[in-house]
Amino acid sequence: MPVSEKAFAKINLLLFVKHKRPDGYHELETVYQSIALHDTLVFYTADDEQVSLSCDCPGLSVGEDNLALQAALMLKKYYEVRQGARIVLKKRIPLAAGLAGGSSDAAAALRGLLRLWKLPCEDGLLQEIAAALGSDVPFCLQGGTAFATGRGEKLTRLRDCPTFFVVLANPGFAVSTAEVYRSLRTDDFKKTGNTKRMLAALQKGNRQEIADCLCNTLEYPAFRLYPAIGELKKKMAVNAPALMSGSGPTVFALYPDREKAVRLADSLKKEGIAVWLTQTKRPVTLEV
Ligand code: C5P
Repeated sequence: MPVSEKAFAKINLLLFVKHKRPDGYHELETVYQSIALHDTLVFYTADDEQVSLSCDCPGLSVGEDNLALQAALMLKKYYEVRQGARIVLKKRIPLAAGLAGGSSDAAAALRGLLRLWKLPCEDGLLQEIAAALGSDVPFCLQGGTAFATGRGEKLTRLRDCPTFFVVLANPGFAVSTAEVYRSLRTDDFKKTGNTKRMLAALQKGNRQEIADCLCNTLEYPAFRLYPAIGELKKKMAVNAPALMSGSGPTVFALYPDREKAVRLADSLKKEGIAVWLTQTKRPVTLEV
């Protein structure tokens, strides 16, 4: 029987870059939030030991540079699995958009193959494999609302965020995460977000306070590199709190009610901007 897994996208409600570490990564404080926009991965048993990936998105590699395939191969190696698998990916999350699409596919590959191959779910081992794949992958294993430190892999689950309708807008180009981090200036680190206040707002489930605490240090280098992202944010921030997600270029706006979100989405669409209307999402369960 084939197994199916949804790979949910994420936004960062807060992303505070603290400093550059000796290993080249940056120390973060971030609040991840899953959203309902998702890819779907279907897993089939294979006749041989090979793991293969196919995808309905022509722009995406299905070779070993694809994080979902890397995840499958890493899981197979760690658990010494003799079986193969055929993975079919239906891609809906835009690529290189700051929404962790690739990371979420990798996490869904780990969840799906645990089920297909009937492997025991060893939480510590899974987290280790996920962290080796990328900074956002550990969060994507379960999703929901979480606070993270380190390079994003040290997670604390938070109370589920109250529902927001989320308008996502993408200026239509891909951004390199590494380039955005590389372009941080010393001054950018001084513009701090209020992590404590955000965590308290989430604990209380207070939408207004959550909106007041939105912050992303990576906006500074990203807007310098690509002014179009800053202009898009300005447009979106007129009627609602808005922020760039992750390293960009996607900008999101948060609404407590659907009607106003639809209105913004429609007006952006009329301008020819790529838009998605979605909402915040609760965590998935790791079932084996
Ligand atoms: O971990 P991941 O492979 O997703 O990171 C992509 C790139 O983003 C890294 O190679 C690094 O340049 C940058 N990065 C960083 N600090 C982080 C996360 C990512 O400098 N905390």
